[in-house]
Amino acid sequence: MAHVLGIDIGGTGIKAAPADTTRGELIAERQKIDTPQPATPNAVTEVVQKLVADFSWTGSVGITFPGVVVGGIIQTAANLDHSWIGTDAVKAFSAATKLPVSVINDADAAGIAEMAFGAGHGVRGTVLLLTLGTGIGSALFIDGTLVPNTEFGHIQIRGKDAEKRASEHAREEHDLSWGAWAGRVDEYLAHMEALLSPDLIIIGGGISKKSDKFLPRLTGLRAKIVPATMLNDAGIVGAAMAVGRGGRPG
Ligand code: BGC
Repeated sequence: MAHVLGIDIGGTGIKAAPADTTRGELIAERQKIDTPQPATPNAVTEVVQKLVADFSWTGSVGITFPGVVVGGIIQTAANLDHSWIGTDAVKAFSAATKLPVSVINDADAAGIAEMAFGAGHGVRGTVLLLTLGTGIGSALFIDGTLVPNTEFGHIQIRGKDAEKRASEHAREEHDLSWGAWAGRVDEYLAHMEALLSPDLIIIGGGISKKSDKFLPRLTGLRAKIVPATMLNDAGIVGAAMAVGRGGRPG
């Protein structure tokens, strides 16, 4: 199945485009709709339905969710409305779109795409992708195999969730200079390195476009650290790639 509509649900925006999963490319211009507030299951499902209609899509749909997803059921929703917890997302989205749907964690999707077509292509060993956006998402790969739903954005640093200190959202919210924020990211990455000893760390999310502002300021990591190369498209492409590979068909 080469062409799949990918939909990347984030805490701030919901992005969609059809993707060619064998080439790792979008095949039409991406559309973005602001995440409704409150981001309840009904409100978000309406946006998904609208995006499917806007592309007049009739094939499979791969969807990301910014929380733990096990067998299509949402387990956590740190940056969306908490009424998502326990919701059968595959059931909700397939009922609304009348199409076959799969749902996986957003960072896992971005990781799948970066490992296949981006900064992690062909890399063996332990690879950790971290998305620094509204929250911090993580995707862990061992010799190319994903360990799903790792949630390393929620380890505690100085008594707080790491994502509350080192996400892109935290930088904006606290009006931190690049230097101050890079210090927080550095401290976070040092923790991750102490826990996992990754060979490669890939920094993804919207912030990967501005990697020159903070990557040179990071110090003392043994692991190689690089920006993601697929930027904002990784979630969409990875969502599309995940269709038929796992999760639960709609
Ligand atoms: C969620 C993760 C998600 C990340 C990025 C975190 O708050 O717990 O599941 O991957 O945000 O959206």
